[in-house]
Amino acid sequence: MAKKPRGVLIAGNWKMNRGPREAREFFAALAPELPAEARAALAPGADAQAGSADRLAAALFVPYLSLTAALEAAGGTGIAVGAQNAHWEKAGAFTGETSGPMLGEIGVRWALTGHSERRQHFGESDETVRRRTESLLEQGFRVVACIGETREERESRRTEAVLERQLRALFPDPSRGAAAYLDGRLILAYEPVWAIGTGLTATPEQAEEAHRFIREFLRLRLSAPAADRTPLLYGGSVTPENLGALLAGPNVDGGLVGGASLKPESYAALLAGGLRALS
Ligand code: PGA
Repeated sequence: MAKKPRGVLIAGNWKMNRGPREAREFFAALAPELPAEARAALAPGADAQAGSADRLAAALFVPYLSLTAALEAAGGTGIAVGAQNAHWEKAGAFTGETSGPMLGEIGVRWALTGHSERRQHFGESDETVRRRTESLLEQGFRVVACIGETREERESRRTEAVLERQLRALFPDPSRGAAAYLDGRLILAYEPVWAIGTGLTATPEQAEEAHRFIREFLRLRLSAPAADRTPLLYGGSVTPENLGALLAGPNVDGGLVGGASLKPESYAALLAGGLRALS
């Protein structure tokens, strides 16, 4: 059996960091840092293999304004460049928003939805996360949808109830979007809010436990094949040092990494760690 049946995906989330100039500098500095094996594993087109057994895939979610520069600079590296959000409508009176067709026009094929910072600071609800996720999947994007509990919810033993609520909202009708769920284009990121940017990484056991719960939910709500094919990423203070232990969990298929994805050397070290988990 494949060691990692859904491969390993190392996704970075730059949040509101790195303008176009810094994005170009990042990729220029990343190339010499990347071990040859990682470069070979990430041959162009590798992003299309995200979710494939024993394959390494990489993506970086960058600010809108840096997308074009990052796409150009990432060309030929096999590292996908994605948006951190997108509206569910294709056009219209939605000041400050960006749509799927606009992202597609410049070559973006990946997007993040439902990050806890959007839920916390920008009024994102379970319902708007569902709309964004469904619309982007319908438009052919790969979507990393984020869920996770707060510290208070974990301390009051409501982690599974919160995950279940967020997951139910994402999949109101199990028959909808079946194709996207089966081809691995939907990726879920479990990001406990208390672990994001705090240095308080979930233990590998906590991460695996939550991922197992999510996978079981998908099996019951969607289907066994959809559950088997959906990559589940862990996010929250992932570093090159703790990645290996987290990836040892059979249901942990990669990481969504904030702080440690901002520096070329640590992002390269994360990719190297992802590769080690496959060998
Ligand atoms: P962090 O952020 O790795 O800096 O904790 C993770 C995220 O918010 O996706």
